[in-house]
Amino acid sequence: MTKSLLTRREALMTGAAALLAPRLVLAAPEAVTLTAGVVAKTLPGNVGPSTLWLYNEKIAPVLRIRRNEAFTAVFRNELAEHSAIHWHGVRVPHAMDGVPFITQDPVQPGESFTYQFAPPDPGTFFFHPHCNTVEALGRGLAGVLVVEDPRDQGLFDIEHVLVLKDWRSRHDGSFEDFLTDAGAARAGSFGDLRTVNGAVLPTLTVQPGARVRLRILNVDSTRIPMLSLRGAAKPVVIATDGNACDPFALNGWRLGPAMRADVAFIAPSKAGAEIIIEDVFGTKPRPLAKLVTAGQELRSTRASLRLPAAELPQPDLKTATRLDVQLLSGSADPKLEAWAKENGVSPDEICLTQKVFWSLNRQVWPGMAHDRLPPPLFELKSGRSYVAELFNGTPHQHPMHLHGHTFRVLGSSERDLPPHWADTVLVRPKERIRIAFVAGEPGDWMFHCHIIEHQETGMMAYLRVS
Ligand code: C2O
Ligand code: CU
Repeated sequence: MTKSLLTRREALMTGAAALLAPRLVLAAPEAVTLTAGVVAKTLPGNVGPSTLWLYNEKIAPVLRIRRNEAFTAVFRNELAEHSAIHWHGVRVPHAMDGVPFITQDPVQPGESFTYQFAPPDPGTFFFHPHCNTVEALGRGLAGVLVVEDPRDQGLFDIEHVLVLKDWRSRHDGSFEDFLTDAGAARAGSFGDLRTVNGAVLPTLTVQPGARVRLRILNVDSTRIPMLSLRGAAKPVVIATDGNACDPFALNGWRLGPAMRADVAFIAPSKAGAEIIIEDVFGTKPRPLAKLVTAGQELRSTRASLRLPAAELPQPDLKTATRLDVQLLSGSADPKLEAWAKENGVSPDEICLTQKVFWSLNRQVWPGMAHDRLPPPLFELKSGRSYVAELFNGTPHQHPMHLHGHTFRVLGSSERDLPPHWADTVLVRPKERIRIAFVAGEPGDWMFHCHIIEHQETGMMAYLRVS
């Protein structure tokens, strides 16, 4: 490998806490290697090492690529089980979506798979495996994908990437079960060790008066923080799941698992000022990270913190076909269980546990193999517009994610929800949320709750686009 290749790779892979990576524009795009492997690392505050699963031995590595530019990632699997990479929120070609058995063959231990696509949309995305996800994510297997937008260069003085993740680790570094019946059947199993970029309450710096952009990602499998920025004047959400929106006040925005929020504000003009990023859900605010102003004061003449508008397929609400989705509890269908037994199909083969607590329209995804999929939740026509109403008939919140599509969240029956683009939307108990989208590339696209214990116990389906 030549020196320039190494430099390019290092520039692409930076620690999550790092500032803007240098932008190298090379004529020919080169491949990034992402190796999933087992790493022993002591998490903050623990006395013994944890067995982590990481990409390139880093907690939440950040990959920076550019919109519409060809991108190649060679995935090498050095885990003891099969895996793949799902590029969450990126409108990739179907064959690049990284769902074992559905969009590609699982990548076996010791094998590689090359992902190749040109990301059509700028924004803050992430990547993770899509099988045994509860354990893989629980052990840290996730990375950040920032797709840079040439249109917004220079709009901000500084940006920080903040990756929220909790760990179910004990003091000695061992992990508690990643999936518990009590958790899976309710709000999920929480981790007590709460980190940002793998650290407890990290401190980051910004210059006084700087125009600041925070790319905040929740890669936790369970927790739903309510974000607030204490000490910042009027922080606004400028992008949801990476997509530019009309800026709205941050004020307790709930960030469910897999959701992202880009938050912007102008830093206080004095050095030494503190801004605390906190989770205000619960009785006492919980500080997650700190920003401190330091260095030379910057004075910006530009007032607006708005990003260039998202350029996404606009659903036609007048001709849209209506879809109804009910998020419900569920139980194993004894007929299907018997069928699975008879046919010798083990749920492990398709990345599921045997337990069923949830369903979508009373349909669950139990022990059926990849070549014997349950029927799709809906059959859609590529290019046609759809409005789906998601109704939550359970007592828990569900962040619902659709692969391969960015949908417009139109509104909620229960609260003021600014219309915005998303790939994951939080549906609260009794709430009806309407989303609209244009069906994309033909293929089977996963649709599931991103509380991974819910996903793995029934709240998963797929939409078939033809
Ligand atoms: Cu972030 Cu189906 O996944
Ligand atoms: Cu759920």
